[in-house]
Amino acid sequence: MPKLVDQADTAPADTPYAAHNQPKDTPELRSLYDAFDAEHLIPLWKEIGDLMPMEPSSRAHPHLWRWSTIHPLAAKSGDLVPVGRGGERRAIALANPGLGGRPYATPTLWAAIQYLGPRETAPEHRHTQNAFRFVVEGEGVWTVVNGDPVAMRRGDFLLTPGWNFHGHHNDTDSPMAWIDGLDIPFVHYTDTAFFEFGPDEVSTRETPERSRAERLWCHPGMRPLSALEPMHNSPIPAYRWEHTDRALSEQLALEDEGYPATVEPGHAAVRYTNPTTGGDVMSTIRAEFHRVRAGQQTVGRREVGSAVFQVFSGEGTVTLGDAQHRVGTGDLFVVPSWTTLSVQAETDLDLFRFADTPIFERLHQDRVEVDAPDGGLS
Ligand SMILES: [Fe+2]
Repeated sequence: MPKLVDQADTAPADTPYAAHNQPKDTPELRSLYDAFDAEHLIPLWKEIGDLMPMEPSSRAHPHLWRWSTIHPLAAKSGDLVPVGRGGERRAIALANPGLGGRPYATPTLWAAIQYLGPRETAPEHRHTQNAFRFVVEGEGVWTVVNGDPVAMRRGDFLLTPGWNFHGHHNDTDSPMAWIDGLDIPFVHYTDTAFFEFGPDEVSTRETPERSRAERLWCHPGMRPLSALEPMHNSPIPAYRWEHTDRALSEQLALEDEGYPATVEPGHAAVRYTNPTTGGDVMSTIRAEFHRVRAGQQTVGRREVGSAVFQVFSGEGTVTLGDAQHRVGTGDLFVVPSWTTLSVQAETDLDLFRFADTPIFERLHQDRVEVDAPDGGLS
């Protein structure tokens, strides 16, 4: 039953959202609360501080996972645990210590390291959860999406939007690891998940340099006249590192030449987009890539919704609210909702970022606050 509160232990007067006029504990009041409890009723005045806080106060922690720790554990699981039907994937999820032991990086986002050994195959399936892969090192795996084989290489960002069949196969004698990002917690919480098994083997073992979808869609500034309708999710299966790297390098080069190109001094950034809408790549997930020059510090920024970063290369320090972490290649960290993030680059620092922002923009619940360079807010 709800904890009884009398006037002696009401919240301090400087807590503006707590009830201040609680009655004394009497047998009648106790009886009322017992009746609430028996009927599965909870009075708002006991819960409002948690239900309607003055600003977002996430249960998720701004936690860091080191690649140098999680990669050997994934490799060990490759020795001990087979991949195949049922378990489906040798994927090990980041479980935010604030989220009750669930395999959730944030309240809405799943992030996992997936490991596929030499010549192994992860069977085909499809689900309504949106998914992507980001490759921090290695190559030699092809992800087959609706029968289209897509090569996975270092620095590539690869999409598997919801309800597309997909499996993976390693065509080499070396293992490969990458990260998976999905909207599993969001879909689970909203009871909207569907899942279907496909073949135990991938539908093709072809290993082309470029997938069919890339041959159709990946030509800068052009789209095929055979596909002019807007699509909810991007038809591009792989955003290749060579393009991301060049886009960021050119922003910094233009800045050096005195032209506006970067988001702030020494900070180049791109957002991966859906070429049929100009919007985010998938309906629930935003993905970006940031490059911060050595010696630069980014301005503090906080947003509604949560994000996960992976350091692609370089070293630096990230400040997340009151917490500071030194980070290096492969490290992953969480930015909970309304937590201010600032990045200090020691070397040139490349950061991959994904977030749940499209959900909140669609619902008009999005909000962003950026520190002014003088230390105030803008
Ligand atoms: Fe999947």
